[in-house]
Amino acid sequence: MPVAKNALLPIVAASLMLDGETVIDNCPALSDVFASTEIINSIGSTAVLEDRKLSVFYSDSNCDEISEDICLKMRSAILYIAPLLYRKQKINMYMPGGCKIGSRPIDIHIDGLKKMGAKIEINENKISAELPNGFKGCRYKLRLPSVGATQTLIMAASIADGITVLQNCAREPEITDLARFLNSAGAKIIGAGKSEIIIQGVPTLKSVEYTPIPDRIFAATILSAVNACKGKVLIKNYPMEYMSLFENMLKNTGLKIFHFNNKAMVIKYHEKKADIQTHTGYYPCFSTDMGPLLSSAMVNNKGYLRLYESVFENRFSYFSQFQKMGLYCKVNNKEYFQVLQKSSHNEELYAEDLRAGAALVVAALAKKNRFIIHGVQYIDRGYENIEDVFTRLGADIRRISGEE
Ligand code: UD1
Repeated sequence: MPVAKNALLPIVAASLMLDGETVIDNCPALSDVFASTEIINSIGSTAVLEDRKLSVFYSDSNCDEISEDICLKMRSAILYIAPLLYRKQKINMYMPGGCKIGSRPIDIHIDGLKKMGAKIEINENKISAELPNGFKGCRYKLRLPSVGATQTLIMAASIADGITVLQNCAREPEITDLARFLNSAGAKIIGAGKSEIIIQGVPTLKSVEYTPIPDRIFAATILSAVNACKGKVLIKNYPMEYMSLFENMLKNTGLKIFHFNNKAMVIKYHEKKADIQTHTGYYPCFSTDMGPLLSSAMVNNKGYLRLYESVFENRFSYFSQFQKMGLYCKVNNKEYFQVLQKSSHNEELYAEDLRAGAALVVAALAKKNRFIIHGVQYIDRGYENIEDVFTRLGADIRRISGEE
């Protein structure tokens, strides 16, 4: 299992707060990683990915702006605001882009940073931020448990003057991993993974070498593929502790999973009809990123899937593509319903975001016909050469250029 993109990206941003060279091991060549290195290099610091090691080194420079083009490349661009305010006391940047799975405001990042002493103005798309007297510890309750805002505020609090108490924090494993990374660099963070996080600010952080946690969404992608296509796959470096909700749902459809050490043997020979009904939510609820993958896992099942999405407004972009593949799908506000209807035919499919793209790949493999999937650039955000992963598992899948 590769390291988790959603753990890696905040850790790369936080590396700018560490003195000296930070090395992140086992780093995949994802397009979001390249967008991160572009941000870091554009502000006069250095980020280099070589032999799966990403090294990050902060250098002083008088560049205090991240261009709009770069900010638009990924949502995680906003994670640079706290580290760069700490380093430069002033940063101009733009509203972040990223997958269009909902409106994705940044108000909690901004509100929390203001409580900690930052002065921030947003004019249309431009964010102008200053930190005249450093971050100050405070007590702050997040309006909702946003993953990104929790990460922003943990970073700011780590090097703030005094103690910060953050309440209603996101509890995702990627939050805990950021705290583990920062603590290894000398931060004093207690409670990550719980709703209340207490942080005693420290004046400086030292450089470290670090390997982020394995990717639970990638693991869910492989489980979905085995579930939908049948067969047997051994997954190494399997993030077992975060997978139980997903595993339990798929077990109802005949998937067998055996855990040993940090590996999982995943086997499916027979499809068992199962009706699945679930809702996504903040961790430890079922992950919104795994929703599309659950849909793909069920494409050959004669039961139905009813999925209620409670985090993002536009999570079901794949439903019209699944219809082309012979599924009856219906979206009613935040509720998605899917059931197998007829056999599929050859089609061109269009991915509109990262996890929807991965779900289309899994579903296409399961349907066994020849499909062309457009929008691979979304999939490249979170999967390094997805075609290689599935080729190794026996799929016939190739990346083709526009003319082929
Ligand atoms: C992260 C993940 C993404 C995942 C999501 C939810 C990364 C790089 N991305 O995204 O894959 O789908 O968590 O698990 O880690 N919100 C606000 N105001 C804010 C911030 C968020 O209203 O200031 C809302 C969002 O619109 C959304 C909800 O909070 O409805 C959760 O978003 P959030 O947890 O922040 O997601 P991301 O950190 O963007």
